[in-house]
Amino acid sequence: MSDRAELAFPEGFLWGAATSSYQIEGAVHQDGRGPSIWDTQCHHTDLVRDGHTGDVAADHYNRWAEDVELMAQLGLGAYRFSVAWPRIQPSGAGPANQAGIDFYSRLVDRLLQNGITPMLTLYHWDLPQALEDAGGWPARDTALRFAEYAAIVFEALHDRVALWATHNEPWCSSLLGYAEPSHAPGRTEPVAATRAIHHLNLSHGLALEAMRAIDPGPQQGVVINLLPIHVVGPDPAGAAADGARRYDALRNRVWLEPMLHGRYPSDALADLEAFGGLPVEPGDLARIAQPLDWLGVNYYNDGYVRAQPGGHWPATPGMRDAVPFTPDGDLTDMGWPITPDGLRQLLVDLGATYPDLPLYITENGCAYDDPVVDGRCHDPRRIAFLDAHLRAIHAAIAAGVDVRGYMQWSLMDNFEWSHGYHKRFGLVHVDYDTLARTPRDSAFWYRQVIARNGLAGGD
Ligand code: FCB
Repeated sequence: MSDRAELAFPEGFLWGAATSSYQIEGAVHQDGRGPSIWDTQCHHTDLVRDGHTGDVAADHYNRWAEDVELMAQLGLGAYRFSVAWPRIQPSGAGPANQAGIDFYSRLVDRLLQNGITPMLTLYHWDLPQALEDAGGWPARDTALRFAEYAAIVFEALHDRVALWATHNEPWCSSLLGYAEPSHAPGRTEPVAATRAIHHLNLSHGLALEAMRAIDPGPQQGVVINLLPIHVVGPDPAGAAADGARRYDALRNRVWLEPMLHGRYPSDALADLEAFGGLPVEPGDLARIAQPLDWLGVNYYNDGYVRAQPGGHWPATPGMRDAVPFTPDGDLTDMGWPITPDGLRQLLVDLGATYPDLPLYITENGCAYDDPVVDGRCHDPRRIAFLDAHLRAIHAAIAAGVDVRGYMQWSLMDNFEWSHGYHKRFGLVHVDYDTLARTPRDSAFWYRQVIARNGLAGGD
């Protein structure tokens, strides 16, 4: 194997892997952590497969040092993680729980000692339960609380963390969760989801204001799960086209437009009137449209919608006689299609629309359950998936798009939300009985990619 990359990435390209707090930390009762909406979803509903919970997860809270060592061995240049709000403010308000701050502070220090750039996400879905009890994201006050929480974390870590994201996939925090029950808090209330959309946007702007008032230096961003959406099949009445437009509005445009242009898309504004309307108050849009230093793109696959009389999908309120569906072809264990060219297209489109906005791929990966045999885990399908997506990113960069880094999802197997521990996304296999970590072949492959800053032509 040659060390020379035939598909070289730009110098300084940030190669990393991602995780999130509830999915890996466990230790839910340790050091004063309060309950989150995902604890409740796991323990008090039947919405998580086989009753799995994040109580132990990968026990990263206690094994963080070993995990950073693993990252160093894999040659990672960056690590994207999220802070658990209920570790910082156990009841969602009031002074910081110092033990929670100390955990992330130690983690950041150890990352930096190993030359690994921390990329910190403030909210990856573990809302303190007390805030949900007070109304959750449908309540405007939650946005104000989020800005206070952001300022507490930022105050503690801004001197050492250069890359910050307010939210991870606000579509999930609002539409999945409040309109469709598969995510916490498991409500099926499109009116509440509509309110949540605006308050998540508002909280993003308020948090940026609060953090920049402390220190304007760190690079501020947000992570959105953007995707191209296609209409497939006959659509005589235009229902699929209308459904796809609504899905695109709520999945992509209802976040990008207020954050980057200070306005809501006019079709979304009109559509959501049927669900109580977006609760915009004077001045909100200007606050949401704070300058962004970077945009994080989480990409797994393109979206597809087809006509189906009587069909609808609660996560897109107003979708009628149409449903999302999965086209024929290779699927990952999530049942998701493999569409790397969609990522190239998405990046090229973003680059054309926002030429001055640096992009990071903040998540991309696949679930495959290949076993560990004699201490090795051969996962050729993951390597093929990652290779294809890295080629797509390379093509976008070659076309002039400013992509600065790639965070593979996920560093290690973890709690995959409503699927519990049944879906394995890790470069590193986790044995949930012993909590032993075993890097898969893909981890060693990725180490080579990082070492040569690109892909070998024949790899
Ligand atoms: C994304 C989430 C992440 C993980 C992957 C598979 O939507 O941000 O936590 O669950 O999907």
